[in-house]
Amino acid sequence: MDSQVMPREQLGVCAEGNLHSVYLMFNANDSVESDMRPCVANVAQYIYELADQYSDSAFNGFVAIGANYWDTLYPSARPEQLKPFPAMNKGTRDAPAIEYDLFVHIRCDRFDILHLVANEVNQMFEGLVELVDEERGFRFMDARDLTGFVDGTENPKGRSRQEVALIGEEDSRFKGGSYIHVQKFAHNLSKWNRLPVKKQEDVIGRTKADNIEYASADKPLTSHIKRVNLKDSEGKSMEILRQSMPYGSVKEQGLMFISTCRNSVNFEKMLESMVHGDSEGNHDHLMHFTQALTGSSFFAPSLDFMINA
Ligand code: HEM
Repeated sequence: MDSQVMPREQLGVCAEGNLHSVYLMFNANDSVESDMRPCVANVAQYIYELADQYSDSAFNGFVAIGANYWDTLYPSARPEQLKPFPAMNKGTRDAPAIEYDLFVHIRCDRFDILHLVANEVNQMFEGLVELVDEERGFRFMDARDLTGFVDGTENPKGRSRQEVALIGEEDSRFKGGSYIHVQKFAHNLSKWNRLPVKKQEDVIGRTKADNIEYASADKPLTSHIKRVNLKDSEGKSMEILRQSMPYGSVKEQGLMFISTCRNSVNFEKMLESMVHGDSEGNHDHLMHFTQALTGSSFFAPSLDFMINA
């Protein structure tokens, strides 16, 4: 493959689901950019090569640069739609912004490998960063969120994952890169579990046990599915690729929501539709049972962009 024509994407952006994940959020020390640039490229290359070495465990991952740190690290050019997390709030529905400089996302079907790699990555960044947050994600049952509903069913499949998640010719300098939005949601599971199953299904817009989508006419305007299934002004579906996984412990648990997309608009419109709702104020009732603790905006450039920067 000619990297001038088709830069190599970071493999975790579009990868299929895994059993385990580790999320590392770093802030950069001051004035380390000239060391940070090669280090970020080395970490991304290391993750890329491990995908071959541990292909039987489906290892993958990516490194993403925070919207507020991008210009410091790569002052010469900025992805067209890269902007801080679109924080919003309405009533008790809160989507706060908590930004980080770097996000390392690694996933694998073997947890021991992830643990090893997470330590190695942390070591590679030594002296350049502070590790500010760390979470470990896991597959729950048959790829369900901790609410008990299958998550990821309507994600783009096959080659359309690339089509949805990766920038093409529209911003040619950043071809193969992706806009990443992350929200750590903490669920109120005792409240959720008190809700009868039929009411839970109305909140999501799908059945729980067998994961069947409600018929269009039966979908409440306040259901999650209704709120996030959006069309643009030309009637085209606005899509994102979700790479979310459950995370946490008994004390605090929920969904590490991760959106990857070739634009930053689709995610923002969906979040707006969940929090603010439609013109009649029909907002997403899922928000009554979960709370966004963070909201961060990143860009995951192609591997070749980082190596050549
Ligand atoms: C669909 C759960 C947050 C966007 C779904 C589904 C579930 C779910 C169970 C149905 C199955 C599927 O198609 O995957 C959750 C939970 C969330 C959350 C538990 C947070 C606690 C979000 C956010 C967004 C979003 C923040 C975007 C801003 C979507 C989209 C779909 C979806 C685009 C597919 C809709 C369709 O085409 O039918 N989510 N979600 N979700 N969610 Fe979420």
